[in-house]
Amino acid sequence: MKVCVVGTGYVGLTTSVCLAYLGHDVTCIDLDERKIDTLRAGHTPIYEPFIDQLLEQVAARLTFTTDYAVGVPGADVVFIAVQTPQLGNGSPDLQYLRAAAESVAQHLAGGLTVVVNKSTVPIGSGNWVDAILREAYERHHGHRPDGQFAVASNPEFLREGNALHDTLYPDRIVIGSDNQASLDVLSQLYRGILNQSFTPPTSLPRPAALGAVPLVSTDLASAELVKYAANAFLALKISYINEIAAIAGAVGADVAEVARGTGLDARIGSRFLQPGVGWGGSCFGKDTAALVATAAEYNLAMPIVNAAREVNQRQRTRVVDRLLDELRIIKGRKIGLLGLAFKPDTDDLRDSPAIDIATLLLERGARISLHDPVAADRFQREQPDLAAHLTHRIEDVFDDADAVVVVTDWSQYLDLDWDKFLPSMRCPLVLDGRHCLSADRLTELGYRYLTLTGPAIPPRSNA
Ligand SMILES: NC(=O)c1ccc[n+]([C@@H]2O[C@H](COP(=O)([O-])OP(=O)(O)OC[C@H]3O[C@@H](n4cnc5c(N)ncnc54)[C@H](O)[C@@H]3O)[C@@H](O)[C@H]2O)c1
Repeated sequence: MKVCVVGTGYVGLTTSVCLAYLGHDVTCIDLDERKIDTLRAGHTPIYEPFIDQLLEQVAARLTFTTDYAVGVPGADVVFIAVQTPQLGNGSPDLQYLRAAAESVAQHLAGGLTVVVNKSTVPIGSGNWVDAILREAYERHHGHRPDGQFAVASNPEFLREGNALHDTLYPDRIVIGSDNQASLDVLSQLYRGILNQSFTPPTSLPRPAALGAVPLVSTDLASAELVKYAANAFLALKISYINEIAAIAGAVGADVAEVARGTGLDARIGSRFLQPGVGWGGSCFGKDTAALVATAAEYNLAMPIVNAAREVNQRQRTRVVDRLLDELRIIKGRKIGLLGLAFKPDTDDLRDSPAIDIATLLLERGARISLHDPVAADRFQREQPDLAAHLTHRIEDVFDDADAVVVVTDWSQYLDLDWDKFLPSMRCPLVLDGRHCLSADRLTELGYRYLTLTGPAIPPRSNA
């Protein structure tokens, strides 16, 4: 099929590369000339495991452009995958979506084009985009569109860091439209994924147990709501275990064991039951806020989702409280933060807990040293005003530090030579913000080990 993808960010680029891998011809449009130049040169503007190799493999079926006239006319499907960041009132900013839809409408030509909202957009956006397309089409072409397009929703569930895997081997594909022909086009577009008929890329083997992928083919509003319902549920699962972690600390229980014992119940499942500094990233915060904002328009409260949001925010201040408990005075202390990305295997810094934690500690007069194996350069570009010391050398984070906090559970930190760095610290305190390190190993080495809950574990030699 001839496909056009508007927006070459984390979602748009992943979608494009995977659809090209399935054999479709894909034109990627972005207004950001720097991104398009980078992509044309064969590089990716984002960090995502294996995307470079796959991009190279399917380059012949991919076109990168800033010009809508190259990609939209004659396309069977146009995906809109632009950003929908959060506004002050919690609802998403739809200006990028509007601009993209208007540009698409101007260039629609040929038979039916299915215009797909892949961006996460509030319930009702399908109708809204339909109206924008109609108006812009009429304005530009001087007549009403006649079967030129139909709008569909195809929410995206990929996890950054596993984006290609999640796209090629998804748990399900959800499509929604009030137009049956567009649902048929989308089922056909995804046929290779739905029946897993493609040869897997060598770097991304197919999971052994995976058979056919379920398709949820539904109406527009239902598809739009699935995305919010799913993200809110995942977010509250994380907040739930963090709330349990607090009581585990108070009663002297081991939250890791509690999480394991709870998650092994097949009705609950163990994923997203990892206690720590909480969620971040471009989706959970924004999407839960949007769900609450949409509900408010219908005079509905969402107390469960709101509570999940509160607990998540509290986890960030809890890092500071825990350091205060241990160090008593924060002013003048040097605190090292390991990890800036909101989770491992991505360079995405949107709503990253590390930024809030660094800001809170700086406000209290701490000196902050920051490290991230991948997101450091992006951090320098996006946070030029944060008065912290960014370093590419992990030893700088430990040197003369009063505490080191693991904020992102990058595998590099798990496998660190922790004994090598201990002697250079002023105070050998480690706050494991992700419950990802071995308390036994660290205390054996001489560290004082702390999590967000429960008492600190002193070094073995002093115990
Ligand atoms: N990142 C994720 O993990 C993820 C997962 C699921 C859903 N989503 C949703 O997908 C959407 C996209 O997210 P993302 O992380 O890929 O965003 P992003 O910011 O990485 O990418 C958006 C891209 O769209 C481009 N763009 C903006 N306006 C444009 C226009 N008018 N024409 C052409 N290009 C334009 C931007 O330059 C940018 O490159 C959001 O709604 C997000 O909530 C994201």
